[in-house]
Amino acid sequence: MKYQSLRGTNDILPEESKYWRYVEEKVADIFSVFGYQEIRTPIFEMTELFVRSIGQTTDIVNKEMYTFPDKKGRSITLRPEGTAPVVRACLQNQLYQKDEILKLYYKGPFFRYERPQAGRERQFHQFGVEVFGSMNPSIDAEIIYLGNFILKTLGLKNFEILLGSVGCPVCRPKYEKAITSALKECCSELCEDCKIRYNKNPLRILDCKNEDCRKYIDKIPPLSEYLCGDCKKHLEAVEKLLTLLELDYKLSPYLVRGLDYYTHTTFEFVYPSLAAQATLIGGGRYNNLVKEFGGQHVPACGFAGGMERIITALKNEGRKPSQLDALDIFIIPVGDNCFKTAFKLLQEIRAEGIPSDMDYRQSSFKSQMRRADKLQVLYTIIIGEDELSDAVVKLKEMRTGNEENIKLSNIIDELKKRLHS
Ligand code: HAM
Repeated sequence: MKYQSLRGTNDILPEESKYWRYVEEKVADIFSVFGYQEIRTPIFEMTELFVRSIGQTTDIVNKEMYTFPDKKGRSITLRPEGTAPVVRACLQNQLYQKDEILKLYYKGPFFRYERPQAGRERQFHQFGVEVFGSMNPSIDAEIIYLGNFILKTLGLKNFEILLGSVGCPVCRPKYEKAITSALKECCSELCEDCKIRYNKNPLRILDCKNEDCRKYIDKIPPLSEYLCGDCKKHLEAVEKLLTLLELDYKLSPYLVRGLDYYTHTTFEFVYPSLAAQATLIGGGRYNNLVKEFGGQHVPACGFAGGMERIITALKNEGRKPSQLDALDIFIIPVGDNCFKTAFKLLQEIRAEGIPSDMDYRQSSFKSQMRRADKLQVLYTIIIGEDELSDAVVKLKEMRTGNEENIKLSNIIDELKKRLHS
């Protein structure tokens, strides 16, 4: 074949897109229930936006950005994540009003030039939230609760919540010193990246994926021992609220995440059976980013979830697309005269938002029934000559096989009643 999709990019084919729509729709509904408004930002931005926020010594900025000059020679980058663009958009459009809380969500494609493998793509898709305007630990706790709510609603069971704190500009320098003194002896044995991190951004060593470096991480004392009073208090308050909300979580003292903008709380939802690409959702607090971008001091907190990984986890737990995207009704006209009535009724049922379909080819009753079975619909509506002359339809419940004649003029109310219950 002449053309192939690029490595690390995927076509989402019809069977697969059922999972995507299922997740996207559920997530969007949940975000509105929790009071979030949608924001859409461009796919590419000035490179500096990402370098300044994600951090010069992170893998994302160092190795993974799709960066290129545009025709005027400006450095442009395909967005590798959503937080920096949302902060930029808020400032540029003055979305954030002082003393208010602003809650935004987004979804779409993101780009990182990583080594592709299962769960790690070069074009991948995230949904995410960002909340601006409060230091209150209830924001952190609610965001974690929201992540949990989403994964549970989608039907996932086997995930864990990891919680940590990366401290703040008061306590982090002390911890960075603790890292460098713990690794002093073995510094020359660290990977080339970590040698640079050792001098420029020691915290990043905790996030190194290199097997050899990971051996030395045990030598580093846990971050939790170096948190200042405020950071400790904040973490404890988040923990208490998570307990109030009856969420199970594990404290993870080395959870630094791959982006530099975090302060205080960090968290991840991990799905252990996805091995190396186990993080389904990751996020945390970033109290200084708005100010670094030239705004006021506006504390903020958010997360992003990876669609590809969540869909893999759904499949892992045996969720079939047919269960996610099933039609409720299949209409079966028997005989040419009944087609028009069935066709019109189909559109009326759909206008009520009830997922429904028919076989437009007027095939045999048997083959239409086979199709209804295959689609796993809840009910079929059978309209034959006899029914037509009595102005009724036959409603068949597929699970039980029960059939009942219902007046044509009542069928929509009857369906609404049954599907609702
Ligand atoms: P992140 O941890 O870099 O955080 O990405 C969030 C999620 O995106 C990951 O947990 C994973 O599910 C998915 N993901 C990341 N890279 C890939 C990839 N190459 N292939 C497939 N999935 C991937 C952020 O992006 C932050 N902006 C999250 C945030 C929002 N923090 C505060 N607000």
